[in-house]
Amino acid sequence: MQELSQSPTEPAFVQNPYPFYDRARAAGPLFRWSEYDMACATSHAAVSAILRDRRMGREVPLERAPEIPQHLAAFYACEAHSMLELEPPAHTRLRGLVLRAFTSRRVNALAPEIEALCHRLIDGFPQGPFDLLDAYARQVPVIVIARLMGLPESRADDLLAWSNAMVGMYQAKRTRSMEDAAEMATQAFCDFLAVYIAEKRRNPADDLISELIAAEQEGEKLSTEELVSTCILLLNAGHEATVHSLGNAVRTLLMHDHREIDGPCVEELVRLDPPLHMFTRWVYEDLEIFGHRFSRGDRIACLLGAANRDPEVYPDPHRFDPTRRGPAHLGFGAGIHFCVGAPLARLEMQCALSLLMRQCPDLALAKEPRYSDLYHFHGLERLMVRAF
Ligand code: HEM
Repeated sequence: MQELSQSPTEPAFVQNPYPFYDRARAAGPLFRWSEYDMACATSHAAVSAILRDRRMGREVPLERAPEIPQHLAAFYACEAHSMLELEPPAHTRLRGLVLRAFTSRRVNALAPEIEALCHRLIDGFPQGPFDLLDAYARQVPVIVIARLMGLPESRADDLLAWSNAMVGMYQAKRTRSMEDAAEMATQAFCDFLAVYIAEKRRNPADDLISELIAAEQEGEKLSTEELVSTCILLLNAGHEATVHSLGNAVRTLLMHDHREIDGPCVEELVRLDPPLHMFTRWVYEDLEIFGHRFSRGDRIACLLGAANRDPEVYPDPHRFDPTRRGPAHLGFGAGIHFCVGAPLARLEMQCALSLLMRQCPDLALAKEPRYSDLYHFHGLERLMVRAF
């Protein structure tokens, strides 16, 4: 397997990782990324196959499980019940319960509320240049997920702060103070949710948390810890990725002066510039894949941003083509961990982008946008625009 070196923190790479992906893909479907000391899959076929291969998964093999430091006890206790970090049978049970509550009826019923929210935010846009991420993209997902779950919109700022602190744990370089912040946020988040869960047990309403509790009462044994972890996962996973999908999408649309948003256009926007680029899998048994041998305990990274620009699958892959048809992109993953929130994320993007373009026909970039210095979350640090 060819070995390639690329610092994941080099500014030119973070701003535009796609030329490196092209170079890596030319080396074969898998290459060894020196800085991560890990095999990485780059072609659409390889990423898709690995994400679907049940001989690999997200759950850490027992013998590789790290010792949990006392100062991160709450954070890891929460992760231990997160479906994203589990494999069958625990994953199947948790995911089944969430899917039963997260119905397309419940998601689609949110459309009028999302539109009303977007109108309200657009009405508040100032005259001069402003950051569209702060004023719009960061607001929509957290408020929508809070409403879906039946949590008060007035606590959106707290949810954002807790979510940001917890997501800090996934950064390549994390410090002790980031760990302490994540632990404190987890504790505060759990305490906050415990109050609402207790309230919804007494007075169920038409929301996702009540529905998850009901599923528990039907003998499905969803413990309070699992309930809290699931709510936190939905809030965290549902927020950051959608914020950056919206930001990256507005950047692409404005750079191409494209203002018509339909379903295929939303898919093309996520294909071209997805917010999450790297997901890893643990190997559970000795195996051979694409001509390379792996042993139990190895890790393989799937580079979603590279797979989405594979020229074997997408002709002229770096071009934004809102009429593009073809195989599904991998921006929402594939296999048993395929994004649970994809229907909601698609609806939010469709509503938020089309309303923005319709209500602000003169929307224009006020400054060349830059991506933030984080490889794992490929999103803009600011999106300065003029709306009027
Ligand atoms: C999983 C992307 C929005 C909830 C995933 C995965 C990806 C992804 C790539 C798979 C991870 C893996 O295979 O290791 C995205 C993108 C989004 C988005 C690009 C926005 C455009 C959302 C929303 C929610 C959500 C809005 C919830 C409200 C989840 C959950 C999982 C997941 C719960 C774990 C599923 C499992 O482990 O079975 N997402 N996501 N996501 N996503 Fe999303």
